[in-house]
Amino acid sequence: MRVDIITCVPKLLESPFNHSILLRAQHKGIVEIVVHDLRDYAINNHKQVDDYAFGGGAGMVLMIEPIAKIINQLQSERAYQEVIYMTPDGKLFDQKTANRLSLLGNLIVLCGHYKGVDERVRERFITLELSIGDYVLSGGELAAAVIIDAVVRLIPNVLSDETSALTDSFQDSLLAPPVYTRPAEYEGMKVPEILLSGHEAKIEEWRFEQALKRTTERRPDLLTNYDI
Ligand code: ADE
Repeated sequence: MRVDIITCVPKLLESPFNHSILLRAQHKGIVEIVVHDLRDYAINNHKQVDDYAFGGGAGMVLMIEPIAKIINQLQSERAYQEVIYMTPDGKLFDQKTANRLSLLGNLIVLCGHYKGVDERVRERFITLELSIGDYVLSGGELAAAVIIDAVVRLIPNVLSDETSALTDSFQDSLLAPPVYTRPAEYEGMKVPEILLSGHEAKIEEWRFEQALKRTTERRPDLLTNYDI
């Protein structure tokens, strides 16, 4: 997979992809993440990429020309399956969307800033608008980092133990059960006996019960999507 991120604050994205699982996925050649500075496509020597909104009102709007220039250039180089725009009025991102995107080849992710982008960018270029929650961030960069992390870890061979993505919260519409590691007892707090028993089938049964209990207590809304 190749992900091209378009932003006018590339420094915000210097760190999230350079550690841990995402860094390893790039080193293994499974994913290539390229951050583009929108200002390199500015309309003038002042590096201008935004302007006041027609009709007035506070806040600057990202212009269509710099965005069109870079998206047209990228699309002339390879085919992209989705051109994603990060915006609080987009479709709420969830594990199902992460699963679907993880199967695609090339993605463009456009980060909004200020008051957003000229509406014509959305009409002409964008195929998918995503929000990571009902709150407003200063820009789409952190939201882009969130979705790219969630997607990349699902690509086969990114996680060394593939089953660990399959047992994540939400993968089967249930929250994940509690986990424990050594010591078996800490200041009187004991790890559930069953987990020390070595009885795999019983452990699986316990984990399923705990996942169901946790989901019922914390996120009963998820159970409406769950097929027993
Ligand atoms: N940009 C600003 N807020 C956002 C959000 N909640 N999700 C995605 N992009 C955003």
